[in-house]
Amino acid sequence: MGNLYIFDHPLIQHKLTYIRDKQTGTKEFRELVDEVSLLMAYEITRDLPLQEVEVETPVTTCKSKVIAGKKLGLIPILRAGIGMVDGFLSLIPSAKVGHVGLYRDPETLQPVEYYLKLPSDIQDRVLIVIDPMLATGGSAEAAITALKKRGARQMKLMCLIAAPEGIEKVRAEHPDVDIYVAAIDQQLDEHGYIVPGLGDAGDRLFGTK
Ligand code: URA
Repeated sequence: MGNLYIFDHPLIQHKLTYIRDKQTGTKEFRELVDEVSLLMAYEITRDLPLQEVEVETPVTTCKSKVIAGKKLGLIPILRAGIGMVDGFLSLIPSAKVGHVGLYRDPETLQPVEYYLKLPSDIQDRVLIVIDPMLATGGSAEAAITALKKRGARQMKLMCLIAAPEGIEKVRAEHPDVDIYVAAIDQQLDEHGYIVPGLGDAGDRLFGTK
């Protein structure tokens, strides 16, 4: 079973409160999501392997560490996932970004892939699948399945808020994928919204309704 990490850093929790607040307008919402994404990126990359190199300082040479081996790929799920990319990139600007677009078939209610554009070497990257809201888990599950089909071998799922139902689904279908969230909320309502949640993440990020 994959691990579940809840980021309880005070700055993340503080900012999340204002993200949830319905009085927070589009500009501030976007900025806050950006800031939380940067903080989550810091935490999510905590286990990146290091290697020792030699560096010449103005005083002498010494051994020091740099990030080794695997490179990162960010895979936002359209459209709300896009809102968490820039914050992550401000910390790790060299990460490549792929996109997955999914919609829910109104008859089968199953997610259908309508867009997929990935870095060519996803098999050699640690992929961070990004979706602010892990609700039913349908989109995240389908996105991870789509990435595995194209050769992805190592993935992490990063969300702002998760419902227990979504966590359960992803963990059941993809036990190899660790999940990173800022909060786990109570439940889903009858429309699939997370309660208490923050409303529609895409609409709040992009000012649509
Ligand atoms: N997607 C959202 O944007 N919000 C929810 O509460 C659930 C899914």
